Amino acid sequence: MNAREAFKAVPRKLFIPDEIFVPNDVGWLVPLRRSDDPERWHKYVAADDAIVTRTRFAPAIPAELCDAATGRGVEATSSSSAPFIMARLIDALELQPGMRVLEIGTGTGYNAAVLARLLGAENVISVEIDSVAADRARSALREAGYPVRVVTGDGEDGYPPAAPYDRIIVTASVHTVPMTWVEQTRPGGMILAPWAPTFHPEWPLCRFTVRADGSAAGRCIGPAPFMPLRAQRVRAHAVDEAETKWTEAGKPDCTRYGVSVTPEGQQQVWFDSPDNVIG
Ligand SMILES: C[S@@+](CC[C@H](N)C(=O)[O-])C[C@H]1O[C@@H](n2cnc3c(N)ncnc32)[C@H](O)[C@@H]1O
Repeated sequence: MNAREAFKAVPRKLFIPDEIFVPNDVGWLVPLRRSDDPERWHKYVAADDAIVTRTRFAPAIPAELCDAATGRGVEATSSSSAPFIMARLIDALELQPGMRVLEIGTGTGYNAAVLARLLGAENVISVEIDSVAADRARSALREAGYPVRVVTGDGEDGYPPAAPYDRIIVTASVHTVPMTWVEQTRPGGMILAPWAPTFHPEWPLCRFTVRADGSAAGRCIGPAPFMPLRAQRVRAHAVDEAETKWTEAGKPDCTRYGVSVTPEGQQQVWFDSPDNVIG
């Protein structure tokens, strides 16, 4: 069974809460409750798009301008990612039966359920920092018949008690690979992380292979936009600077970029080959 088939086999609606957040006429996020408008709620759940499930007022917007009723100042903090993008990530993991996977960013638990469908719930562990989302996902996974262990905590710490993992999949974007992930992946194993636009504007997905010497390196394999891991936001001016550099370089495809992490934790971005370090 491939990832796409596994997504079809696991009903998404079992993981989507009664209250979701959808854009209003001017693009702000406002609540939509299943109990108020079941038909519209189901339409969102059936679409192959991300669904926002948790929000907060954006810290960058002055509190007096924020308003939950109009959605002004509200930003997404958790979602059920678009199934077609998650399928792309899962396919990129090149899973084999018996592999053990750590997911960073449980969200609704839907992606964890799909991983459990492919590998067995006993081989999947997922870490979520938002305790409300983690509790909901834990229950939804149990009720859906995929009792994945959901750990409430900071995914940047990984989850040492069950390490080493064959694969770590991150469902939020990063600009830095925490060494804990490298240390908790077995040699030859893989870390898959959507990258913030710090060198390419398409939010490239980086696939790292971990080596026996404690280093990791890999290329970007395609675009995969994700909300950032909580402590890995990138400032707007850094994104603009990166886009300018990329434009000046002739807008190369993201697959020409890669990232290496040394055993000492030093991170390098390279272009075409690991000895051509650009950042
Ligand atoms: C795009 S959502 C994940 C979608 C999820 N895989 C699904 O299928 O529903 C990203 C999640 O990462 C979580 N997150 C952000 N920073 C985190 C961190 N440091 N550790 C663990 N989870 C984190 C967010 O709370 C959010 O739920």
